[in-house]
Parts: sequence; structure tokens; C-alpha cells
Amino acid sequence: EARASAPTPPMGWNSWNKFACSVSEQTIRAAADALVRTGMRDAGYRYVVIDDCWQGPRDENGVITADARSFPSGIKALADYVHGRGLKFGIYSDAGALTCAGRPGSQGHEFQDAQTYARWGVDYLKYDWCSTGTRNGEEAYQLMARALRASGRPILFSMCEWGTNKPWLWTPFAGQMWRTTGDISDVWEAHDKGRLGVINIADRNEGLWRYAGPGHWNDPDMLEVGNGGLSDDEARAHMALWAIMAAPLIAGNDLDAMTPAVHAILTNKAVIAVDQDALGVQGHRIAQDGDLEIWAKPLTGGRQAVLLLNRGAAPATMTLHWDVLGWEPGRRAAVRDLWADRALPGASRGVTLSVPAHGAQMLAISPA
Ligand code: DGJ
Repeated sequence: EARASAPTPPMGWNSWNKFACSVSEQTIRAAADALVRTGMRDAGYRYVVIDDCWQGPRDENGVITADARSFPSGIKALADYVHGRGLKFGIYSDAGALTCAGRPGSQGHEFQDAQTYARWGVDYLKYDWCSTGTRNGEEAYQLMARALRASGRPILFSMCEWGTNKPWLWTPFAGQMWRTTGDISDVWEAHDKGRLGVINIADRNEGLWRYAGPGHWNDPDMLEVGNGGLSDDEARAHMALWAIMAAPLIAGNDLDAMTPAVHAILTNKAVIAVDQDALGVQGHRIAQDGDLEIWAKPLTGGRQAVLLLNRGAAPATMTLHWDVLGWEPGRRAAVRDLWADRALPGASRGVTLSVPAHGAQMLAISPA
């Protein structure tokens, strides 16, 4: 039995948010090259995941094949290419007969597909929930989890049933991460029904903080940083929210077309360290006053990460008082501003900062 492990939230890149079905082996190779060239691999982004639309038909033995036009070299060659760059390789399937884009799903082929993935060198499977009819969610995901363990290769299992069957309650957990919501849209906040912006997703994922921990993470969907729909301040807040929620950090942008600001947001070491902190606790909202919110995440060594979030359309001045953290006034602490990458003057009662509209400041606080 092979088991994948995810002691900290998985990090990587996935093709869907930017390329959707316009994906090819060239797209994936370019992403792998870019992860290396831009320093993102070394910042922690390790998995390169092809989402929907890589599949061709099943062959006469039922073995899944790659789309011959967009993946002519085959998946094994692509996995080798990705591994050759010091990265891990991920793929996508679906618990129904068809994927959301209408390609063959894995229903009835679970063990066969897991064997095929293992033979190709797959390290990560994202498993979707389209065309599943009346299938029982927990059974469908536990079945594929068993198939992956029986494949002989540790394959991380990313469950994508959008929170429909409350996968955070399954015992044991089937996979290392599970989506908690429907798909993210590349907007700060959506007001139309059915669409979820960054803030809408964060609100839903936040309440599930108790269910996350080392090896099993809430997944509020992939990052939209760099896809054009968010201002730099909004993108910083998006990244900070995902980090404070110990979310998997799966970039979803065109890595060959990053602005310096987007690159800096995605590779900020201190923000990534908050996400990846070994304690593995998902942070959550601890105070709220209209559009202004304070979120906190306990870190190793008695430290805390704190997010000052301004959901409103006007800049604001926010003060973090120590008592919100359960600390007595007068307690000395070292405070670091993670976006500005600087220490803030020694504080004894708290800190005051300006927070841009639709923005977030992120602090790391170490008791002296
Ligand atoms: C729905 C998922 O939630 C998305 O992330 C993406 O995988 C699409 N399906 C692909 O069809």
C-alpha cells in the first residue's frame, strides 16, 4: 500500500483557471520551465497539474489514452519532462462517466486508471464530481482512494466535489485535500447568484477551519492571482487569505506573462511560510467591525500570523489591540509586516496600520 502525505498544504500550478480546455503538452512543459525559471519551484510550488481535457478515448482494453492532437507525445513523456525539472506531476479525472468537459471519467475504471497513472509516474490526482448522478460521494471517493493506494505509487488525492457531500466529515479522510466550494471566479466579490469571488469563497471556507490539519486540508480552490481580474491589492489580499487559511497554494495563471507585482505576490517567502507553518492550523476570523476584519493563525513557537482585512471600497486605518489575540496590554512583541518585508516599531499595546481598499495587511507577531 502506497500512501501520499501532505504534512503542509500542497503547492503547485494547475492549468484550469487560465487555460481551461485550451491545454496541450506545450502548455504544461512551458509551465514546468517557468516554475523553475521564475523561482516559483524553489519557493515551494512543486506540483504541475493538468486539469480537464487531456483525455482521449479509452482503448480496446479500456485503458485511458491521451488526446492525440494536444498530447501527441503521451502522458508518460510529459511526466518525465516535469520530473526532470525537479517537479511533481499531477493529472485530473472525474468520479462520473464523463468529466465536466465531457471527456471519459473514471467511473467503473477506478483501479485500472490508478494503475495507468502509477505507470505514467503521476504524483497527484484531482478528482472531479460531474455526471455522477445518484452516486454516493463518500463511497465514490473512498473507492478511488483505495485504488490509488493499491497502485503502488504514492499519489496525492485532491477531492473536487465542491463540498457537496461534506468530505471534511468522512472518517477516515479519503484524500489529502478537498474543495469546500464551487469554482472561484477572477473577481474580488461576486454579487450575482452562482458566482463566487475571492471574498465569497473565503467566507465559506473560513467556517470549516476546525477540520483542517496536517495531512488533510480545506481547499478553497486555486489562485486567480495574475489572471487580470484583481487589482494588485486584491491579489495580495487573496494570497494572504489563502495563506492564513492554510489553503493549498495552486497557482492558476500564465507563468510566462507575470508582472513583477504578481511574481512578488506569489513568491513572498514570509507569506508562504505562514501557509506552510508546521503546526498546520487553519486561521480564521477573530474580530469584525463592518468591512474591517481581523483573522489570526497560530504558528509554531508561540507566534501568530494576523491578517487585517479591509473588504470595503475605501482605504481604512486599522488597529490590532493585543487583547483581540487574548494578550494582556503591555506584552512586548516583535511585529513584522510581511508584504513590506520590514519590522514594525516595538509595540506594547498593539499596532496601527493603513489598509488599502479591498486589501489586507499581513503581520507575523512573535512574543518577546
Ligand atoms: C470543475 C472543477 O471545480 C474545476 O476546478 C475544473 O476542474 C473543472 N471542473 C474542469 O472541467
